[in-house]
Amino acid sequence: MSSALKQDLLPEVDFTFVPKAAKLAVIAGAKLREFFSHGVATEYKGDVDLVTIADRTVEAYLRGALLETFPEHGVYGEEGTRDRLEAAYRWYVDPLDGTTNFAHGFPHFCVSMGLEERTPGLQEGVDGPIVAGVIYDPMRDELFAAEQGKGAWLNGKPIHVSRVPELAEALIATGFPSHKRHENPNIHFYQEFTLRSHGVRRAGSAALDLAYTACGRIDAYWEFNLNPWDTAAGFLLVEEAGGQVTGFDGSYRRLESREILASNGLIHAELLGFFGDMFAGRDLTPIPTTAEYGARRREREAALKPMDLN
Ligand code: IPD
Ligand code: CA
Ligand code: CA
Repeated sequence: MSSALKQDLLPEVDFTFVPKAAKLAVIAGAKLREFFSHGVATEYKGDVDLVTIADRTVEAYLRGALLETFPEHGVYGEEGTRDRLEAAYRWYVDPLDGTTNFAHGFPHFCVSMGLEERTPGLQEGVDGPIVAGVIYDPMRDELFAAEQGKGAWLNGKPIHVSRVPELAEALIATGFPSHKRHENPNIHFYQEFTLRSHGVRRAGSAALDLAYTACGRIDAYWEFNLNPWDTAAGFLLVEEAGGQVTGFDGSYRRLESREILASNGLIHAELLGFFGDMFAGRDLTPIPTTAEYGARRREREAALKPMDLN
């Protein structure tokens, strides 16, 4: 495989970090594609938190390649990489976002790499600006890239969030956590937003959900339990594409924020209003219980029984 980046994947823009990072992401993506074509065994990190040899191999590759390509940068990866964390720049790396999809042969996953600038002495837990982000989907050969102040791009073309003005006309997305699933209320949000929008997708890759928000394929995305390797690149993509990212209460988004709402900006206030209402228990639409629905079905079936002719 050639390590040269195909010409059409990046625009003619005076980037600082994106070209080298994109090249690594594309190589990493090719490795994922190769593993995917053969199939891989699955292990469990937790409850239903899956990991495969592909996650580990690609993180090891990106760790080595980033440290070599950017000798002044640190790396913080999902599968345990913690290198040069005192450096003035730090890459947040998810070598395979969408592992559950990957493990089941569902072709929707990506490599995600976001770069934070950390002025010397910045305390852990305090954010520096995110200055670059690259998300590569190897199954569609789609490279999403952004640099602070230089716009957001998909395969060399500028991208912008959608112009959908209200939730009632929006297609939105979410994900469900793999840890402590029983304690999470997201199914209620899923129900409410399904009733109030064109629909809610649950495609299984947080980084691609953010990238899709950035390019207008969806109009908003929320999730409860994210990590900086899921979000760092996607935050910058959405913001450089003209969108907005906050917590569920409108607070500034942070790399450590677990709860994230990203949107095209136009429907953000409306969505925040619903989050406020729902957390306060207002305006919830009752869902019929399965027993209630079962009773109605039996009634319908009884009404349809052939008539007794005797
Ligand atoms: C997961 C995916 C999924 C989201 C989970 C993430 P992983 O990342 O982004 O869409 O719902 O919260 O943990 O485990 O496949 O890297
Ligand atoms: Ca992830
Ligand atoms: Ca991952």
